[in-house]
Amino acid sequence: MPRSFIAGVGRYVPEQVLTNEDLKRYMDTSDEWIQERTGIRERHFADRTSETTTTMGVKAAQMALDRAGLTAQEIDFIVFATLSPDYYFPGCGVLVQRELKMREVGALDVRNQCSGFLYALSVADQFIKTGMYRNILVIGSEKHSFGLDMSTRGRNVSVIFGDGAGAVVLKPTEADGHGILSTHLHSDGESAELLAMFNPGTHANHWTRENPVADFDEAEIAGMFMSHEMIDKAQNFPFMDGQAVFKKAVAKFPEVINEALAANGLVASDIDMLIPHQANLRISQMIQKLMRLPDNKVYNNIQRYGNTTAASIPIALCEAWEEGKINSGNLVCLAAFGSGFTWASSLIRW
Ligand code: ACO
Repeated sequence: MPRSFIAGVGRYVPEQVLTNEDLKRYMDTSDEWIQERTGIRERHFADRTSETTTTMGVKAAQMALDRAGLTAQEIDFIVFATLSPDYYFPGCGVLVQRELKMREVGALDVRNQCSGFLYALSVADQFIKTGMYRNILVIGSEKHSFGLDMSTRGRNVSVIFGDGAGAVVLKPTEADGHGILSTHLHSDGESAELLAMFNPGTHANHWTRENPVADFDEAEIAGMFMSHEMIDKAQNFPFMDGQAVFKKAVAKFPEVINEALAANGLVASDIDMLIPHQANLRISQMIQKLMRLPDNKVYNNIQRYGNTTAASIPIALCEAWEEGKINSGNLVCLAAFGSGFTWASSLIRW
């Protein structure tokens, strides 16, 4: 059975940079508060009209295709991970197919938020291993800036996120020991409401009644997809119980990394580069400590980009590779945790 390997990596971040200082134009916050709690110094925001989740994804994809030495017409399947799609439906995958003038190939959208890229990678990996497809484009892209509450009311969430895109091209290889060694996917829906955007949605407050942990007011007109009341109550913006997310993340990241290592008969000291989803620098530092890894074996760029959700792993992977920090034969570990909760890992022999 062939393995899949990453034949090309690409990334795109929009030009516009917003420093923590810039955010003070919109909300009551400070550079000190944001850096101390998250490590973030600045983030990039897409142009409001000319850039979308798809257009950014297309730019990252084109770079990955060029590096893989393939044209878009040679791609057999698209997997697109995002929580901030251009449209509620259809998904971004078909927009990529149109934009890159691709053949009438399958296009699948994955909605797994921060672990979206690893879920997408895992799907693509299975198609290659079974021989169904040869060249697969996997994209993670987010335009968070369109969906954040930039007032003081939303500051605990909005200071964390940024826009950007990353992509990889997967191909089959028979080369011994190289490529994606394994992927590991998990979920626990018990705490689905602790990190969520409730509207627009069809829930009609069903889960609020069922699940007392949900910390949001019931919209007055239950059953409507979107109402003025929902907007007044900020239910069209992401909600996050930050401390609960932190606690669960620092437990699940090491667990899923260790699961991947054990599945391959490896140990933490075998890892050459760990690329955690860039959720929060404090979370990455905690994982590093728990995994007993030195600084040069953990890649972080959240300081410059903020949390770009489904895009954070491919952007970081691409940068680490461009900086010569990932070389042939290296053991690369990717790991993610996020809304759902869902979490995932993958080990790759580069
Ligand atoms: N600027 C200034 N003050 C703020 C801000 C802000 N941006 N946001 C919140 N505050 C204030 C609050 O209003 C509160 O003030 P009060 O004490 O007067 O009521 C105070 O700071 C503390 O607020 P908390 O929400 O309790 O802050 P906490 O110390 O928990 O830090 C944070 C918040 C950074 C979100 C933290 O909980 C955390 O790191 N959580 C992890 C969640 C995370 O990283 N999510 C990433 C996205 S999800 C993912 O990718 C997995």
